Amino acid sequence: MSLRESRFKAGMYLLETLTAGMYNEPLSIYREYIQNAVDSFDLVRQARRPGPQFIKIDLDPLERYISIRDSAFGIPSGNAEKTLSRIGGSEKRKEKFRGFRGIGRLGGLAFCDKAIFKTKAAGENVESVQEWDCKKLRNLLADTEHQEMSLRELFDETTVFYQSNSKKKTGSYFKVKLIDVSSFRNHILDIRQIEKYLQSVAPLPFDPEGFEYANDIKDYLSKKIPNYVEMKIKLNGKQIFKLYKNRIKSTNKQVDSIKGVKFFDINTSEGMIASGWYGNRENLIGAINRGEGISGIRVRDGNIMIGDEHILDGCFREARFNSYIFGEIHINSSKLIPNSRRDDFVDNQTKTEFYNIIDRDIGLPLSKEIRLRSRLKSQIQSTQKKQLENVQSVEQIKVAEIGAGGNKSSKEESFVRPSAEMILAEIFEKCGEYKKVREIKEKYGY
Ligand SMILES: Nc1ncnc2c1ncn2[C@@H]1O[C@H](COP(=O)(O)OP(=O)(O)OP(=O)(O)O)[C@@H](O)[C@H]1O
Ligand SMILES: [Mg+2]
Repeated sequence: MSLRESRFKAGMYLLETLTAGMYNEPLSIYREYIQNAVDSFDLVRQARRPGPQFIKIDLDPLERYISIRDSAFGIPSGNAEKTLSRIGGSEKRKEKFRGFRGIGRLGGLAFCDKAIFKTKAAGENVESVQEWDCKKLRNLLADTEHQEMSLRELFDETTVFYQSNSKKKTGSYFKVKLIDVSSFRNHILDIRQIEKYLQSVAPLPFDPEGFEYANDIKDYLSKKIPNYVEMKIKLNGKQIFKLYKNRIKSTNKQVDSIKGVKFFDINTSEGMIASGWYGNRENLIGAINRGEGISGIRVRDGNIMIGDEHILDGCFREARFNSYIFGEIHINSSKLIPNSRRDDFVDNQTKTEFYNIIDRDIGLPLSKEIRLRSRLKSQIQSTQKKQLENVQSVEQIKVAEIGAGGNKSSKEESFVRPSAEMILAEIFEKCGEYKKVREIKEKYGY
C-alpha cells in the first residue's frame, strides 16, 4: 500500500460553528470561562497549593469591555501556545473535569472585536498572551472571496501569540479580556441579566443568611459528590450567591415557607449516579414566582447547571408542576456526559435510566402531592363559598345568633367569640374577596 498525502482539509467555517453557532444564549460565554477557571482550581487543589481562590468578573457596559480572571493554576509557559492553539481537543480528561472538548473559550469570539487570553503559572515570571482579531475573523468569514481558506489559515491570519516577562514570580492566573463587545440587545453587558444568569448557572455558594438549610445541603453534597465545589465569584466587586431562601413568593401572590429539605440519591445497577435535594414547601399551592429565580429541580454537573430550570419538566405529570418545587440534582457519573451546548446529556443508556428514575421517584410522587393539595384547596373553597351563599348579610348572621340566644353583646364576650361581621370578613378573606372584606371593615369599623 503506497502512502499518499491526505486530502483532508478542515474549512474555515468550522470556526464559525464553534463560536457564533454554538450558543443560543450569549450569556453562556460566562459559564464557559467560569467552568475553565473552576477546572483549573481543581488542579490547584490536587497540587495542594495554598493561596486565594477567586473568580472576578468586571464589565463596563459603556466601554463595552468584559474581563474574567481567576487566581487558579494558569498555564505553564512551555505549554501555553500549544494549549491555546488547539481547537476541538483538550488535555483535560473527561472523567475528571467539567470541560473536555477544547472549544469553550472560543464562545466569546463571536461577541467582541478583540479577545485576549493572558496566563501565568506559579513560580514562573513569564506571561503568555494569545490575541484574537475577532473583527477580522468575522470579515473573512463573511467574504466569499476567502471561502476556500482552511481553518489553520484562518487561525494564523487572526491570532498572535507572544510571551513577555512578568514583574512577579509568585501568583498564577488566567485572564480573559473581551474588547468592543456587543450582542443582540446587548444582554451580554447587562449586569442585572448577568447576575441572574450566574445565580442560576455558576457554582456559587448558598447564602447562609437567607437560607437556613445552606450548610446542611453543602455538607450533604460535599460528602456525596466528589467534585462538588462552591466558588467565590465577584461581579463588579460584589460577591454573588445562589438565590435559595426560607420564604418564597408563589404565583398566587402568597408567601410560602420552607419547612425542611429532602435529600435523595439516584441509584442504578451501576451504583449511585447522582444526589440531590428539594425544599419542602409548607403549602405547595401555586408555582414559585419566576422572579424568585429558583423554581424547578435543576441539574448540575460539577455544580454548574446543565440546561435551564425546565430540564426536568417532562418528568412531572404536568410540566408546570416542576415550577412548584425548587431543588438540585448533582451528577456523579462519568457516563452522564453533558452535550456540547451543555443543555442536556449525550444520549445513552445511563441518561435513559437517569430520567426514568427521576420520573418515577421524584416527578410522580411530587405531582400527586401537588394535585392533592390543589384538590383540598378547592374543596375548602367550595365549602366556604356554600357557607357564603347561605349567609347573605351580617344582619342575617346577627338574626341567627339572636335566635340561638348567642347575641349577648357584652364587651367581655366579644373577646371570646368573634362578632358576626368578623366571621363574615374572615370567610370573604379566605375566598380572596378582599374588596368585600374592606367594605365590611369600613362599615362596621373594627
Ligand atoms: N482559566 C483557565 N486556567 C487555566 N487553563 C485554562 C483556562 N481556560 C482555558 N484553559 C486551557 O485552555 C484549554 C482550552 O479551553 P476550552 O474552554 O476551549 O476547552 P476545554 O475547557 O478543554 O473544553 P470545553 O470545550 O468542554 O470547555 C483548556 O483545556 C485549558 O487547558
Ligand atoms: Mg472549557
